[in-house]
Amino acid sequence: MDEKRPSYDLFTPTFKADPFPTFAQMREADPIYRHLAPDGSTIWYVTRYEDVVAVLKDDVHFCKDPRHAKAPETFSRTSRQSPMHQLINENMLFSDPPDHTRLRALVNQAFTPRRVEALAGVIGETAVSLLDTAAERGTLELIADYALPLPVRIICALLGVPPADQAAVSDWSQAIISPGSRGLNYSARRRKVKAFIDYLQAMFASRAAQPQDDLVTALVQAEEAGEKLNEKELSSMVALLLVTGHETTVNLIGNGVLALLQHPQQLARLRAGEANWETAVDELLRYDGPVETSTTRWVREDVLFRGQQMRRGDVMRAVITSANHDAAQFDEADTLDVTRTDNKHLAFGLGIHYCLGAPLARLEGRIALPLLFARFPKLRLAVPPPELRWRSGVLFRGLEALPLIIDA
Ligand code: HEM
Repeated sequence: MDEKRPSYDLFTPTFKADPFPTFAQMREADPIYRHLAPDGSTIWYVTRYEDVVAVLKDDVHFCKDPRHAKAPETFSRTSRQSPMHQLINENMLFSDPPDHTRLRALVNQAFTPRRVEALAGVIGETAVSLLDTAAERGTLELIADYALPLPVRIICALLGVPPADQAAVSDWSQAIISPGSRGLNYSARRRKVKAFIDYLQAMFASRAAQPQDDLVTALVQAEEAGEKLNEKELSSMVALLLVTGHETTVNLIGNGVLALLQHPQQLARLRAGEANWETAVDELLRYDGPVETSTTRWVREDVLFRGQQMRRGDVMRAVITSANHDAAQFDEADTLDVTRTDNKHLAFGLGIHYCLGAPLARLEGRIALPLLFARFPKLRLAVPPPELRWRSGVLFRGLEALPLIIDA
């Protein structure tokens, strides 16, 4: 039966350049699509809005910690106990209740709305200084010069990483996130992870002795029902925040600027004050958001889901960018409308793993985008859109680079 089903190109650069027609086809013909990985395992792609909602809200049939979906003997004990594995995978994004509930409650105490709102000033100052540098130089490659350094500096400021250490921390975080693209072999990566863990441990000790007004201090002090985060949990929590700080908001700014430059009438409405940036940022998150599919969920037990028999241990991917273009949920779903208000998009996920950083990401978008367009009234693409390269991988959706012309 499977042989007769169409297979979809979900990985090539052509697909990445414009995945929306493929997702429309999948929503129509194959809304719960079974993909067979090279090792023979099953990956389910769920593309309709209502099904993506169902998957993200269902932590009974689907789980985040693979140990809850697979037999324990399939896990190599040594690899799961390595400091590198723990730093990258033992965090709340890859855990289930009750672990997730405890970790999230602890971080919620530290990551407060007050702490996020207090960052508005530093976001604005950082954005202006990056734009000043571009203006002096006369060129702007949006990703490297603005969309990436801005959220990285903000997450470092939030955590309390001093400016002098930010380059090293960024280097270590990149080694965790994308070792392949940086040409790092296993032992080079392990060395960097070790240096990172040593740095974090020293930081925790210093904050415990001398508390500062930063998130690391708040995490060190957070306590829930008599329990605190232990050192490993603290390290992987901070690593998770750094990784999300490097990989997501960059794409909100990058994809958002590209969408607005390709829709000059929508941009003109924003410039003229006929539309507001708060609404526009959410529409940009819906229209071409930073996260293509949710992080991996695992089928906990054999289950019949929307008529498809899923097996314990199968991988589940909820395709967020597809759900956000589903005409069953959104009027004119493929149209960018910066005044759209009925906009229950899923760019930040849903359910217990709903994005912790959503208020911060929105704030960064609402400050960074208007400052950029105000500074460069004639901003335009430096290359035709077909020449733009999108990053590979199923998780994120973002440009490798976005060269722009800033002069008059
Ligand atoms: C526009 C930018 C962002 C987008 C689109 C985004 C999107 C998401 C999504 C879709 C999830 C859920 C993943 C899943 O259920 O599989 C998530 C979770 C998460 N995000 Fe974000 N994110 C953004 C920015 C940030 C920032 C700036 C931070 C940190 C400061 C952050 C921290 C987190 C954390 C810690 C989780 C895990 C929450 C949990 O497991 O309970 N995110 N994000």
